Amino acid sequence: MEIISGKDLATELKCQMASQVATFKERFGRIPNLTVILAGDDPGSVSYVTGKAKASEEIGINNVTIRLSEDVTQAELLALIAKLNDDNNVDGILVQLPLPPHIDSDTVISSIEQSKDVDGFHPLNTAALWNRRPCILPCTPKGIIKLLKSKNIPIAGKKAVVIGRSAIVGLPVSKLLLDEHATVTIAHSRTENLAQVASEADILVVAIGKPKFVTPDMVKHGAVVIDVGVNRDPDTGKLCGDVDFEACAPLTSYITKVPGGVGPMTICCLLENTIACFLRKVSQP
Ligand code: GUN
Repeated sequence: MEIISGKDLATELKCQMASQVATFKERFGRIPNLTVILAGDDPGSVSYVTGKAKASEEIGINNVTIRLSEDVTQAELLALIAKLNDDNNVDGILVQLPLPPHIDSDTVISSIEQSKDVDGFHPLNTAALWNRRPCILPCTPKGIIKLLKSKNIPIAGKKAVVIGRSAIVGLPVSKLLLDEHATVTIAHSRTENLAQVASEADILVVAIGKPKFVTPDMVKHGAVVIDVGVNRDPDTGKLCGDVDFEACAPLTSYITKVPGGVGPMTICCLLENTIACFLRKVSQP
């Protein structure tokens, strides 16, 4: 069994990005700007946004975090995004989810200029992903594929089971695994015999948002297990994933931990997407 450290891989990739970004001021006259919008003060979201800001600054990207009140109106939010869309010095716009319940997330996400959609959530980017056209990939799915590739884990021909069907993780990671020629099953809360389905996976990706949901009976001997969960352990209050790590790890060939697994890779891919949006913008005539 080997732990795949997202933290180590992210550190290595951030180092490379920092060297690249260090050349930008001289080459292009400015550095990339990532603007993050957070509405409300959900502790989880605050912590994500802080992590994104810290990582941006680490590699020399200018991060602006705009904090709005929980009761900001949809019209105000749309007006802010329109302003950022028009601002030539803004390369990436990220609206932290979930938004307060009175705001329609789809409308807000769709209002972001496609070329500044560093999350890859805009419907045009989603459509491009499903049509295998060049696009900005959602960060967590992109990070998961990087983790697998960093260990040269074969994907083509393998049986991949993704537990969870969210638009942010489950669906796009399934498509990326399919593009890598895996045989993909998407399982979810309504799947019958979920343990049986999961236990057939060579690669098991878990994004269901339930602490320690995956138990050893759901893991094939020698499987690769990628844990996307970010939960609080109800017993200890500590951060934990969707996989019972201690119990499952001995069965696996490779496994990620929470924290230090997928999370740092998500942030790393966000930085990569921001740099890509910047470069596209500055290289346009
Ligand atoms: N909330 C949970 N994950 C994400 C993410 O990847 N991007 C945004 N914007 N919000 C999130």
